[in-house]
Amino acid sequence: MTVGIEMGTTTTGAPAILDLEELLATRLLVQGNSGSGKSHLLRRLAEQSAPYVQQVVVDPEGDFVTLAEQFGHVVVDAAAHAEAALQQVAARVRQHRVSVVLNLENLETERQMRHASAFLGGLFDVERDYWFPMLVVVDEAQLFAPAAAGEVSDEARKASLGAMTNLMCRGRKRGLAGIIATQRLAKLAKNVAAEASNFLMGRTFLDIDMARAADLLGMERRQAEMFRDLARGHFVALGPALSRRPLPIRIGEASTNGRAGNARLLPLPATAPADARDLIMTASEHEPARAPVSRPMATADILAQLAATRPPPPPGEVLAGELAALPRPAPPARPSHEQVLAEVLADPEAMFRSVAQIYQDFLVRCRQHGVNGRALDLAQFRRKLATVRAGIDAETADTPEWEQALTLSAAMPEDLQAVFLMLARAAHDRAACPSNAQIARARGSRSPRRALGLLEHMEGRGLISIRTDAFGRRVIAIPALAWETEPGDADAADDEVA
Ligand SMILES: Nc1ncnc2c1ncn2[C@@H]1O[C@H](COP(=O)(O)OP(=O)(O)OP(=O)(O)O)[C@@H](O)[C@H]1O
Ligand SMILES: [Mg+2]
Repeated sequence: MTVGIEMGTTTTGAPAILDLEELLATRLLVQGNSGSGKSHLLRRLAEQSAPYVQQVVVDPEGDFVTLAEQFGHVVVDAAAHAEAALQQVAARVRQHRVSVVLNLENLETERQMRHASAFLGGLFDVERDYWFPMLVVVDEAQLFAPAAAGEVSDEARKASLGAMTNLMCRGRKRGLAGIIATQRLAKLAKNVAAEASNFLMGRTFLDIDMARAADLLGMERRQAEMFRDLARGHFVALGPALSRRPLPIRIGEASTNGRAGNARLLPLPATAPADARDLIMTASEHEPARAPVSRPMATADILAQLAATRPPPPPGEVLAGELAALPRPAPPARPSHEQVLAEVLADPEAMFRSVAQIYQDFLVRCRQHGVNGRALDLAQFRRKLATVRAGIDAETADTPEWEQALTLSAAMPEDLQAVFLMLARAAHDRAACPSNAQIARARGSRSPRRALGLLEHMEGRGLISIRTDAFGRRVIAIPALAWETEPGDADAADDEVA
C-alpha cells in the first residue's frame, strides 16, 4: 500500500507529496533557524498522517498538546511521572497502539533528557509482538542528542544520546520511524543526523550549519547557499520519501494551532503618562476580584495563629484599656521585632515588595513603636523574614537545626528559598509532605505543574530527594539536614485556596 500525504505545494503549485511507507524505512531530518517553520511542518506532517499511522511526539515546549483535541492524541505530562513509570507507559503505548504527545515543558533540561530517554527506551525495548510501525517525532532534537557535552551531567547526556541513536540507527526494524527537527545542525550529534535519508531544509544563516547541510545532502557548499534566502514555511525537500532531486516546497496550513505566538508589532495605545499611573494603581469598576491565592505565603495568617497560641503576656505587658485598673501605671509595652514584622506583613501590598522595601517599612514601624529596628541588620532581617514566611514558630526558629536550614537556603537562588524552607519545615516537624498545590502557592503560582517542575529542578540540584511510598504518597527528604517529611498526597487540594 502506498500512502502519500500532502505536505504542501511545489513552486509550480503541484502538491508536494511525502510517501509515508518509504518514510517509515528512511526517516526524516528537518533543520531551519528559529522561526523558519519547523514545528509547523511537524504539525502538518502529524495531522496529515494521523489517520494512517500511530505517532509519538516528543515535545520539549508543549507546542503539540493541541493535537489531542482534534486527533485524539493522549498528552502525557512527563513532569508528573518518574522515569520508570514513563518507560512502562511507553510500552503500553506500543501494545495498545495509542498516539501520544510526551509533554516535557515543565522540566529543566537535564530532566527533559532523562525522561525522554526513559520513554524512548520503553518504545524501543518492547517485545517483538508489538513492533507495529509508528512515527516518532522529536522537536528540538539537539536537546536530546547534543553534539558536545553541555552543562548537564554525563550520565543524562549519555542516556539521552543513546536513546536517540537507537531510535535513528536501530529503530527501523522495530517499526520506529524517527522524524527529528533541529534549529542548528552543527549542534546535533553527527551519528544521529547521518541516519536520516530524507531532508527538509529551511532557512539557515550560519555557515557552519550550511556546511553540515551541504555535506549531508551531498551538495556543493555553493549550492547550499540557497538555504539562506528561504522564507518562513519554505523548505527544500530531498530523499526517497520526498524527491530524488532538491525540490523547493511550501508547507501547507495546519488545522490545529501551535502555542508559539507570531510576534508582530502593535501600535501602543495613546495614553498620557498621568493617566497611565491612575490606570494601573486604581481598580476599575468591573474589575474581577482577584483571590489572594497566589501570594507567596499567608504570612499574616500564620503570624496571627502564632500570636493566638502564645502564652499569656507577663504582668508588665497588659493592654492599654486595663492600665487604669492597675494600682501603679506600668510602662507601655514595646512590641517584639516579630510583632512589628507581623504588622508590616499584614498589609496585603507587602507581598509585592522586595525584601529591602519591607525592611524599610519595618524600620519605620519600629521607630513609631520606639523599638530599635536597627538591632536587626538587613542580613538578619532577611533570615527572619524567610523564617516567618515559611511559617516557622518562634521556638523552632531559634534552634541550631533551623539555623542550618536557613544557611542552606541562603545559598540558593531567591525563587527556590520559600519552597525549600516550606519543605524543610514540614520535614523538621515530621509533617505530611506538602501537596503540589501548597508548593505552588509558596512559590506565588497557582499551577501544580509548575510546582512539580520546581521539585524536579531542586532534586536535580541535590537539594531534596523525592520518593513514593507503597501507597503512592510522596515523601521528600532533605539530604543535607537528614530530615524527611511524612508521606503526603501530592494531588491534595490546598486548604488555603479552597
Ligand atoms: N507554512 C506555514 N504557514 C503558515 N504559518 C507558518 C508556516 N510555517 C510557520 N508558520 C508560522 O510561523 C511561526 C514560527 O513557526 P514555527 O514555530 O514552526 O518555527 P520553528 O522553526 O519551530 O521555530 P523554533 O525553532 O523557534 O521553535 C508560527 O507562528 C507558525 O504558525
Ligand atoms: Mg519550533
